[in-house]
Amino acid sequence: MPSDTLTITDNRTGKTYEIPIADGTIRATDLRQIKTSADDFGLMPYDPGYMNTASCRSRITYIDGDAGILEYRGYPIDQLAEHSTFLEVAYLLLYGELPNQAQLQDWTNRVTWHSMLHENVKKFMDGFRYDAHPMTMFVSTVAALSAFYPDAKNISDKENRHKQIRRLVAKAPTLAAFAYRHLLGRPYVYPDNDLSYTGNFLNMLFRRVAEPRYKPNPVLERALDILFILHADHEQNCSTSTMRMVGSSQADPYSALAAAASALYGPLHGGANEAVLTMLREIGSKDRIPEFIKKVKAGEGRLMGFGHRVYKNYDPRAKIIKRTADQVFEATGKNPLIDVAVELERIALEDEYFVKRRLYPNVDFYSGIIYQAMGFPTEVFTVLFAIPRTIGWLAQWEELINDNEQKIGRPRQIYLGARTRDYVSMDKREAVIA
Ligand code: CMC
Repeated sequence: MPSDTLTITDNRTGKTYEIPIADGTIRATDLRQIKTSADDFGLMPYDPGYMNTASCRSRITYIDGDAGILEYRGYPIDQLAEHSTFLEVAYLLLYGELPNQAQLQDWTNRVTWHSMLHENVKKFMDGFRYDAHPMTMFVSTVAALSAFYPDAKNISDKENRHKQIRRLVAKAPTLAAFAYRHLLGRPYVYPDNDLSYTGNFLNMLFRRVAEPRYKPNPVLERALDILFILHADHEQNCSTSTMRMVGSSQADPYSALAAAASALYGPLHGGANEAVLTMLREIGSKDRIPEFIKKVKAGEGRLMGFGHRVYKNYDPRAKIIKRTADQVFEATGKNPLIDVAVELERIALEDEYFVKRRLYPNVDFYSGIIYQAMGFPTEVFTVLFAIPRTIGWLAQWEELINDNEQKIGRPRQIYLGARTRDYVSMDKREAVIA
């Protein structure tokens, strides 16, 4: 008679335990009853990098890495990329359903309302050195917003939480655009609330001082919107888990989101799009690809934009991005690095090293080439990831706050260091070579 339990025999003691299985998981705390003696702490799972640990129950984003499936609230990513807009997807991620026309209009108005920055935030950003990395500016200024909106600390009030969510979704593009203009030494451009979310972003980035009204190129506006949809959420990755971890201490959403954005900055996560461009530039031409691949296989660096912890088949986002690239190039002219990227992908996908490890292009492999063709400097790429991921982080945060099972995040460790020893005075210490 099958039963939804796991029977474990501890060969140290000969004892047998029966542990319930729910949703294909066992509770790690159920292992604590497995002890060798009364004062034994109990068995713990050891899982560096959380390779096989579910940290929450979620209803937001579904990924089947083997089948290459990504869905937001059950809607396949390719359908959303084709038919939806970023703000509609943002609503979907937060509220669980697609909005009707009136709901979308209301949501759009209420988000757009918050797109301006306090003048002192602008001054705060001015304080950065002329060459400050836009991602550093983004992270720090998001954290600083906590001081501008102290009401955000009241996280138990739903309407208050949602006000902060709308603020962050609205201000993320403004912060990003100001960081970009700071890098170029250009005056900031204020939001134009008559434009779409991405149209206004392009306005704040690229409007010239003498230009009375900015008219975004519709092809680039739509391409950016698609890219934003693709980046909006990706379940429990490094930055989202950071958002949940910091949020679990009941910190305000600005502080938690600054931490999440910091996690995104790393080259193994959202920083990969910048790293891909650097890599493609270094390779330079198709004939140098075999030499580069040889180095990667010898362990000298990674093929950036390849591989994923969850996708062991083609990343569905990469497929859509590759298609979007063709549309963008029609408007901007072809980015010559695309030929290097396509050839690099072809060679890697035929190479046993990558095939054996199931390494495929991920979302970052082609996005940077599009961003560069649109006129963005590489330093801005990761900020372009952070803007749309803001709603993903916040939807996950909202879910966390409403989840009665969640507690402050606090992993255990296996302690391997020295145990109780007496303090050694300075004159008796040996020089220890680290
Ligand atoms: N180039 C060369 N070898 C690789 C790569 C790569 N890009 N990715 C993984 N490997 C190898 C790795 O060396 C290891 O080989 P071995 O078994 O011989 O030691 C094996 O594949 C498994 O790698 P891993 O590091 O254990 O895999 P992971 O699941 O911990 O790492 C990853 C996932 C995304 C960090 C990794 O694939 C990587 O570093 N990729 C390049 C950076 C990148 O493109 N990051 C963006 C991820 S997608 C956007 C996002 O959501 O952030």
